Amino acid sequence: MASVLKIRRLATAEVKAAVALWWVTDLLKPWNDPQADAERALATPTSTILAGLLNDQLVATAMVGSDGHRGWVYYLAVSPGHQRCGFGSQMMAACEAWIEDLGIPKIQLMVRAENRATARFYRRIGYEVGEFIFLSKRLGQDEAED
Ligand SMILES: CC(C)(COP(=O)(O)OP(=O)(O)OC[C@H]1O[C@@H](n2cnc3c(N)ncnc32)[C@H](O)[C@@H]1OP(=O)(O)O)[C@@H](O)C(=O)NCCC(=O)NCCS
Repeated sequence: MASVLKIRRLATAEVKAAVALWWVTDLLKPWNDPQADAERALATPTSTILAGLLNDQLVATAMVGSDGHRGWVYYLAVSPGHQRCGFGSQMMAACEAWIEDLGIPKIQLMVRAENRATARFYRRIGYEVGEFIFLSKRLGQDEAED
């Protein structure tokens, strides 16, 4: 039977460990500032980072937040040695509950186009691919991408 993660808010003191997990799961690009991202998410009332712990060890994270209309998830990560054990699903269920508690009826996320395996994971747990054109604009910086 699959183990059950203990899921709670990430403590500020655990941000470094979370960032290390994001590096090892290949979620970061050189132009990201994950430390600042994490601190901002933890300091904002409409967002948080959930930590998944197994025997007191951080093995999973997910950043979840509301923009007032929809729920969004970023930085879903399960440590490589603990993948395919149901932990990603448990983290997403916790994100869904967090968003539902705000009375928001829909949760969504972006997956990089080349990350097809992860898209399969999301589809497996009930997420549908939407037909949207994704537009974005980098604010206040000249060289950054993403
Ligand atoms: C994506 C990720 C979070 C999945 O976590 P996980 O703990 O391995 O997923 P689970 O064990 O909960 O899997 C749930 C279901 O999805 C399936 N699944 C998981 N990874 C899959 C993959 N790469 N390809 C196809 N199916 C996959 C599982 O087999 C399982 O199906 P089942 O219910 O039939 O057994 C994990 O692989 C990861 O951290 N990847 C690197 C970081 C990343 O890409 N994050 C997402 C950013 S958008």
